[in-house]
Amino acid sequence: MKKIISIIAVICSLCIALAACGQTATPEKTAKNSENPAVTQNGTKPDDHAEPGDLSGNVIVAVFSATGTTKGVAEKIAALTGAELKEIVPAVPYTSADLNYGNSGSRATKEQNDADVRPQLAGDISIEGCRVLYLGYPIWWGEAPRIMSTFVESHDFTGITVIPFCTSGSSDIGSSDDTLAAQAGSGNWLQGKRFPGSVKEDELREWITETGGIDMEKTLKLYIGDAEIPVEWEDNGSVNALKKLAEKTLAVQMSMYGGFEQVGALGSTLPRDDRQTTTEAGDIVLYSGNQIVIFYGSNSWSYTRLGHASLSEQEMTELLSHGDVNITLKFE
Ligand SMILES: Cc1cc2nc3c(=O)[nH]c(=O)nc-3n(C[C@H](O)[C@H](O)[C@H](O)COP(=O)(O)O)c2cc1C
Repeated sequence: MKKIISIIAVICSLCIALAACGQTATPEKTAKNSENPAVTQNGTKPDDHAEPGDLSGNVIVAVFSATGTTKGVAEKIAALTGAELKEIVPAVPYTSADLNYGNSGSRATKEQNDADVRPQLAGDISIEGCRVLYLGYPIWWGEAPRIMSTFVESHDFTGITVIPFCTSGSSDIGSSDDTLAAQAGSGNWLQGKRFPGSVKEDELREWITETGGIDMEKTLKLYIGDAEIPVEWEDNGSVNALKKLAEKTLAVQMSMYGGFEQVGALGSTLPRDDRQTTTEAGDIVLYSGNQIVIFYGSNSWSYTRLGHASLSEQEMTELLSHGDVNITLKFE
């Protein structure tokens, strides 16, 4: 009985230590970030290849997540930015016993107690061609898990804007982002930010805008032939991904179909959230994840809404019913 009571006492004191860890948060860093998000916050030299807000290159979200919380946030960031999601996977996966922070002898706790430990990665994660890297991890004992050090020390971040983010029980990001930046020794590292696992898309969108992940100054423009069409675009991950495709101008050869629409292949697959939809003239939708459809009549099918052209049915019919057209999308 005595033994059981003393084990409970140890677990309680560890929980209190974790909570205390949360109280040593450094909220002033977040404020600094929102004042000047493009500031490089550490000893690494900002390089002039990567301008925050310039997304002409690839955007990648790389994440280590032991129990799925940070991965959930990473998925939202990837959907909002149209980025590719890559997981940082340990060669030896963490079991729940490994993650038991109530046990001072557990693998994760022992690793965090030794700054020199570098757990091996399951495989290489290529960040070649990447210009903006969102880098996510959970907080373990106030720091980034040691596997994040393995990751940053084995990559060259020259020309990359690195934007760290983390999840935790309550602790802030602390100096974990600075430590990783110093270990990386290259790249333009921005101030990182901690999110709860339950963070809403709106908060992430605001942060992405602040940090320059999506340039809200630019607009997505649609041309049918040479005519620019006024469009109210949806605010969703599919449109964000379309914006990325349209940064280098996207030309699509459309074909008339069914006497109510023109459809064309985008050449890429976008994130989709298909719903049964009855369309009307002017509706612009994503079909099958990789085709854009513009309507001058109505159809009922499962689509992801992209936007609506603010023209009358007569104007849409005039534009689209006389033969196949070429459309151009530009994000500028
Ligand atoms: C070994 C270990 C240590 C942890 N240390 C802290 C900590 O210091 N502060 C905190 O708020 N949360 C701490 N946590 C909780 C995690 O940061 C939190 O559950 C996180 O969201 C998990 O993310 P994941 O599911 O992506 O792995 C710790 C968790 C583990 C497993």
